[in-house]
Amino acid sequence: MTKRKQNETPEQPSATGANRREFLHNGSKLAVAGAAMGTILTPGLSVARSANAAGTDTIKIGLVGCGGRGTGASIQAMNTTSGNVELVAMGDAFQNRLDQSLKQCTNNHKDKVRVPKDKQFVGFDAYENVLASDIDMVILATPPGFRPLHFESAVEAGKHVFMEKPVAVDAPGVRRVLKAGELAKQKGLAVAVGLQRRHERAYRESIAELQNGIIGDLIHSRVYWNGGGVWTRPRAEGETELQYQMKNWYYFNWLCGDHIVEQHIHNLDVANWLMDDYPVKAQGMGGRQVRTGKDSGQIFDHHAVEFTYGNGHKLLSHCRHIRNCWNSVTEHTHGSKGYADIGRGRIFDKDGNEIFKCKEGKGQRGGHQQEHHDLFADIRAGILPNEAEYGAKSTMTSIFGRLATYSGKELNWDDAINSDLSLCDVDALRSMNDEAPVKPDGDGKYPIPVPGAGYKDVIDWEPGKPKKKSNPKKKKPA
Ligand SMILES: NC(=O)c1ccc[n+]([C@@H]2O[C@H](COP(=O)([O-])OP(=O)(O)OC[C@H]3O[C@@H](n4cnc5c(N)ncnc54)[C@H](O)[C@@H]3O)[C@@H](O)[C@H]2O)c1
Repeated sequence: MTKRKQNETPEQPSATGANRREFLHNGSKLAVAGAAMGTILTPGLSVARSANAAGTDTIKIGLVGCGGRGTGASIQAMNTTSGNVELVAMGDAFQNRLDQSLKQCTNNHKDKVRVPKDKQFVGFDAYENVLASDIDMVILATPPGFRPLHFESAVEAGKHVFMEKPVAVDAPGVRRVLKAGELAKQKGLAVAVGLQRRHERAYRESIAELQNGIIGDLIHSRVYWNGGGVWTRPRAEGETELQYQMKNWYYFNWLCGDHIVEQHIHNLDVANWLMDDYPVKAQGMGGRQVRTGKDSGQIFDHHAVEFTYGNGHKLLSHCRHIRNCWNSVTEHTHGSKGYADIGRGRIFDKDGNEIFKCKEGKGQRGGHQQEHHDLFADIRAGILPNEAEYGAKSTMTSIFGRLATYSGKELNWDDAINSDLSLCDVDALRSMNDEAPVKPDGDGKYPIPVPGAGYKDVIDWEPGKPKKKSNPKKKKPA
C-alpha cells in the first residue's frame, strides 16, 4: 500500500464534484456534460500534452514569494498524488527568505526540488524571471499588494496560476485581477485562489444544505476573525524605509490592505459563497485601541461592519487583533427555521436539535492540501478551474469593509468597486532604495485614517452623491 506523506490529506471529491478516479473513468462523459454546462474542458490541455509527449507526467512549478505560505503551498503542490509535480524556479524580494524556503522544500521533497542557482531570483523583478523560466504553473504568494501585477503577468506569460488570497488591496487592483481572470479563461489557463474553505468538506456540505433550504429563508449571518494579532519585525540598522515596510508588510495598507482584508476575507468569502452574491452596502466602525505604537504601521486593530446584500440579508462581521479578548474564527447563519455553524458542519433547528452534521469533523479538514489535490487533479483531467472572479470579489468585499470603517460612512458597492484610489504603483518599484509609498512623521508614526474626519484620503467619492466618471484617457493604467 502506498504510504501517505506528511501534510497530506486523503483525496476527497474535488470542488468540481468528482475525484481523480471518477474524472479518468468518466472523462469523455464529463467533457460532454461540462461543455453543455459552459465549463471549460480541454482534454488536450498543454500541460498534459507536453508532459505526455515527454513520456512523463510532470507539472513544473515556480514560486514567487518564498515565505511561510509560498513554501507551504509548494510543498502541498508536490504532495499531490494525481501525478508528479516539481519545483524548478523560485523568486523573492529577499535572499534569506528564498534560502530558507528552498531548504524547507528540499527537506520535504528532495527528489522533486530542482532549483539550480540560475533559477533562484531575488528582487522586485524576480517574478519576471520566474515567469520566463520553463514552468507550467506559478504559485503567487507575496503580500497581496503585488498580486494584481504578478497575476496579470503570469496570465500574459501563459502560465497556470495558484495565487494566495487576498488578490489585491484596492479597487483598481481588484479590477485588474478580474480582467486578467477573464483573459485566463480565453487562454485556457487554470486559476486557483487560496480561499481553501471552498475545498473543505464541512463547508461544502453545510452550504449545499443551507442553499437547499434546510433552515428555510436565510435572514442574517455572523462572521468573525477575532484573535490576538500577528508578528512585528524590528527595524534593523541601515535598512531603508522601503525595506522596513516590505519586512513588516502586514502593517502597511499598500502591501496588506489591513487585517480585515488579509485574514477576514476567508470568513467574508464564506458569507458570499452562501449568499451566492456580494453585498451592496456596508457601514461600520473600527480603530486602534491597543496597537498604537510606531511598530504597528497604519492598520486598525479592530473593525465591525454591517454588510447588506441585495435581497436584504444582513451580515455582521467582526475582526480584531487584541489579546485577552473573546476569540473566534467562525461563520454562522440564521434562518426562519434554524441556524448553522457553517465551518463545523453543524446545522440546528429553532429548538437547538441538530438536523445536519458533516461526517468530517473539525481538525480533519485540511483545506490547504485539498485545494492542491483538486487543482492538479482537475488540470490533469483537462478541467480548468477559474476561481479568479470570486477571489477578486471577496477581496473587494473585505476592501469595501475597510473603506466603510476608515471613512465611517455608509457606502455602496458600485462606488467602491469603481473607485480609482490606488494605494501604490507597485509596478514602478525597482529597488529597496526607492521611495516608500507611505512615510513616518517626525515621531516615527504613520498616517492613520480617522473615521468621519479624513474620509477623502480613504475614498475618492462623496457618499450619497453619484460618482463623477474619471477620464480613462488621462489615467495611467492601474
Ligand atoms: N490561505 C491561507 O490560509 C493563508 C495563510 C497564510 C498566508 N496567506 C497569504 O499568503 C501571502 C503571503 O503570506 P505569508 O504568511 O507567506 O507571508 P511571508 O511574509 O511569510 O511571505 C511573503 C514573502 O513574499 C516575499 N515578497 C514580498 N514582496 C515580494 C515581491 N515583490 N517579489 C517577490 N517576493 C516578495 C517576502 O520577502 C516573503 O518572503 C499573503 O497574501 C497571505 O494573506 C494565506
